[in-house]
Order: sequence, then structure tokens, then C-alpha cells
Amino acid sequence: VFTFYLDEERMRREVAAGRHRDVIGGLWDEIGALQFDWLARQGLRSDHKFIDIGCGSLRAGVRLIPLLGQNYYGIDVSPALISAAVDEALAVDPDFPPANLAANGDFALDTFDQFFDVGLAQSVFTHLPLSELARCLNTTAPYFKLGARLYATFFRGPPDRPVRQPSGKWSFADRDPYHFDPAAIEATTPPSWEFEWIGDWNHPRDLQMVAFTKL
Ligand SMILES: C[S@@+](CC[C@H](N)C(=O)[O-])C[C@H]1O[C@@H](n2cnc3c(N)ncnc32)[C@H](O)[C@@H]1O
Repeated sequence: VFTFYLDEERMRREVAAGRHRDVIGGLWDEIGALQFDWLARQGLRSDHKFIDIGCGSLRAGVRLIPLLGQNYYGIDVSPALISAAVDEALAVDPDFPPANLAANGDFALDTFDQFFDVGLAQSVFTHLPLSELARCLNTTAPYFKLGARLYATFFRGPPDRPVRQPSGKWSFADRDPYHFDPAAIEATTPPSWEFEWIGDWNHPRDLQMVAFTKL
């Protein structure tokens, strides 16, 4: 097990205790707004089909659904978090289709019957090894339009030792929270995607931004 997010018993307990906004990392308003502002600056439009990979309880989604409506889609490994996400979505938009939110740990986007323009995986690959990034990019590629952008955030760090991030939090080469070297992320990128290191995007815990463009 790579990360406690895969412990569904625990996720069920957290959600039942009303802690679905905390368990995905807290800073609900700050990191929700950060994600919305980032995507808006990249030109996200209301007619874009958008996929939130590892959407959690919809920290970004509650801000994006007022813009995107039913063009917002989310996927997360945890059924408990997805059920909390459905409640959050309906609270901001009673017409939001719950089927746009799917519990799936295999990055399977075929259930949606859509081709996406833009995607985001925010603080998902900080909890998973690079083999999961490869699995994600390979599995999702057929469901993105040519030229589509998939943004993903990572801790940056050396391949062989822990490092203290500027926020003071430690990250690790081989366990959650994972960090990676940009060259390792690039080497993991399959030929269906083009890798681009963006870097700092003002994340309070120093996560760095990467863009993958669908080829
Ligand atoms: C730190 S939270 C971030 C949630 C959301 N992206 C946000 O910024 O609010 C990480 C999320 O990744 C999800 N996750 C972990 N492994 C996953 C997988 N294989 N497929 C989909 N989601 C996954 C977790 O369940 C959790 O909701």
C-alpha cells in the first residue's frame, strides 16, 4: 500500500466523522482557490471538458463546478471520498450529475464516454510512486483530445534521499510523501504525452507544477 488514501476503512471513518475536507490535506479554501486560479490563468473555459484526477472531496471541484457545470468530471480511488464529493457538488449545483464523479483507482476514464480538453492531478503523485504516474498517463491518454493539457503537481527532490521542503515538511524518494527529480518525471512520460516542467505556482507546501500535453 503506497498511501493511507488506499485504506478505505480509514477513509470511511474520516468521512463518517465529517472530516472529508481535512483528510485530503486541509487548507480547503486556500488550495481550492489556488487550483481554480491556476486553471483560469491557463485559459480553462466553461465549454471545456475537464477531468479532476484524484479529485478527493472536491476542494477544487466546488470552485470549478460553478464555471464548468456538467463539464466537470472527477475520479478518485476512494468510494467514501467520492460520496462526500457528490454531497459537496450537489450543495453548489443541485443539477450536477453524480455520474460525473467515479470511484476508481485505475485511472479508468472510459466510464465517462468523453474526450477531455484539460485535466488536473493536484497532490496525487505526491502520494504515489512514479510507476503510478506511468499507469495514469498510459491509461488516460486515449480520453484526452490532441493538444489537451494534463497538469500535475509534485514535490521536487533528489532520487536517493529525503529532503526537507521549504515549508519544513520532509519528503522521500521512496515513500509517501514522495518527491521526484524533474528528469525522472520526464523519463517516465510515455510517448503519447509531452512533458513540460513549470515549477513554482505558489502552492503553500511547495508542490511544483508539471504540464503534460497530449500528442
Ligand atoms: C492530497 S489528496 C488531493 C485531492 C484533490 N486533488 C485536492 O487537491 O483537493 C490526494 C487524493 O488522491 C487520491 N488518490 C490516491 N491514489 C489514487 C488513484 N490511484 N486514483 C485516483 N485517486 C487516487 C486520494 O484518494 C486523495 O483523494
